Amino acid sequence: MRRKLVAGNWKMNGSTSSIRELLQGILGGSAEVAAVELAVFPPFVYLDAVARQLTGTAVGWGAQNLSEHASGAHTGEVAGPMLKDLGCVYVIVGHSERRTLYGESDQVVARKFAAARKFGLKPILCVGETLEERDQGVTEAVVERQLKAVLDLEGVASFADAVIAYEPVWAIGTGRTATPQQAQDVHAFIRAQLAALDPALASQVRILYGGSVKGANAGELLVMPDIDGGLVGGASLDPKDFLLIAKAGC
Ligand code: 13P
Repeated sequence: MRRKLVAGNWKMNGSTSSIRELLQGILGGSAEVAAVELAVFPPFVYLDAVARQLTGTAVGWGAQNLSEHASGAHTGEVAGPMLKDLGCVYVIVGHSERRTLYGESDQVVARKFAAARKFGLKPILCVGETLEERDQGVTEAVVERQLKAVLDLEGVASFADAVIAYEPVWAIGTGRTATPQQAQDVHAFIRAQLAALDPALASQVRILYGGSVKGANAGELLVMPDIDGGLVGGASLDPKDFLLIAKAGC
């Protein structure tokens, strides 16, 4: 049985005070959604404050990105051991905003995935197609290519400690959610890719859906057989909505 994970990707949002309030709100309702695992992904600079507030609670935390390198002359970058030092459990790799706005190739993403594992962090690997790619009918080819880069470098066994997030680019921040069936079809495809290499492992890997998930649509998404939770952007900044999404997964 795969325990559902609802992960809040705060992106480049928040301040010391707004984050304190947001976490208070989430912690206030977290006991009611204990069946679901919760984790938040603040900007790097707030990780320490988030760690202090969440230590000893049921809510985990992670980072939105990491360097592929361990340390050294990489101005402006943040390394895996630093994230581990701050108690991060997870780290998001290959978010479409990193791929499209910051030029991260499939190979860079694969190396970040490897770096995460090397330093004891669980990568949440994001994959997903653009609207143009969906319209061209190449969704599966795109997702397969994105997965293959990681499989080639790290092997299927590496997914035992990883999470996958299917985030169709056209559904991110647009209010346009994939239909539950559209999402389920791609999730099943992803699982089948892994199952072709290791069926037992594939049945245990959690595959999250991301793209305009909110309290109002989470129920119909999270009920699908291969959707094991959500990677939530905008709605994760509102504790009520974030908890509603989690409730839908209980
Ligand atoms: P939204 O929920 O704001 O569409 O963002 C999804 C996302 O990119 C999560 O990583």
